[in-house]
Amino acid sequence: MTYQTINTQSATKGVLTITLNRPEAFNALNTLLLSEVADVLEQADKDSDIGAVVITGGPKVFAAGADIKEMAALDAVGVMNDDRPKHWRRIYQFSKPLIGAVNGYALGGGCELVMHCDIVIAGDSALFGQPEINLGIIPGAGGTQRLIRTVGKPLAMKMVLSGEMIDAQTALQANLVAEVVIPERTIERAHELAAKIASKPPIAVRLAKEALLKAFETDLESGLNLERKAFTLLAATEDRNEGIAAFMEKRKPEFKGR
Ligand code: HXC
Repeated sequence: MTYQTINTQSATKGVLTITLNRPEAFNALNTLLLSEVADVLEQADKDSDIGAVVITGGPKVFAAGADIKEMAALDAVGVMNDDRPKHWRRIYQFSKPLIGAVNGYALGGGCELVMHCDIVIAGDSALFGQPEINLGIIPGAGGTQRLIRTVGKPLAMKMVLSGEMIDAQTALQANLVAEVVIPERTIERAHELAAKIASKPPIAVRLAKEALLKAFETDLESGLNLERKAFTLLAATEDRNEGIAAFMEKRKPEFKGR
């Protein structure tokens, strides 16, 4: 399948890579790009050969936000009928791990895309920001809700109200990213991690992601109930029997996703 705004690469070891590819617009997220990312993730969800996806903007820039030129054409009714929230939801619904590899700017919708990733590896020159305030708008793809839950009130308020960017080290301290590496290592490190995750039992990985994300949006008792149900369900999988048997027999497990 060929796409106009992204490249995809099926690597070995169960990892698919999506590279945003609008260099002329600093990978600004227009509707087509969002829909292409969502299409690829939906396909990847159904493909049992894929265990994790890496999403990157390449070596120079992750994404400079929503496409401002496209956005400029929309009035309030246009924004209300916009397809973009639908595509963001489709991206959020991807059930397998999504690993972000971020170099350069991750601004506005780009920073929100970072927050749709389950794990983020940042190059040490990456910059994160929610500069929407400078355009007379506010973040519109979860940036007010996910940012404050992720980095806490002081930094989220500072970023959203002032539009100031933060560097990779600050993003690391604030838990927006999991690791900071030299920029040349960002994509490679994201791949390594994705391949490791793709080698794990896929049903357990999927239920772990679901349970972890639930913690963002539910009370403790409901979250613990979900965890217990997922834990119980896993007792019925062949992979759980295989994992335990392999441990007992001191051999490597062979997981089948069943
Ligand atoms: C459309 C964009 C763009 C964007 C950059 N470009 N960001 N086009 N939408 N978000 C284009 C520029 O118009 C220019 O093309 C080219 O990319 C290079 O940008 P420059 O500004 O010339 O580069 P530079 O001086 O290096 O500055 C880079 C930058 C700056 C700091 C990233 O471009 C910038 O501030 N961009 C806007 C960032 C932003 O406000 N993002 C939030 C968007 S709103 P031309 O052809 O003109 O030379 C948002 C809302 C999300 O994300 C809501 C949910 C979906």
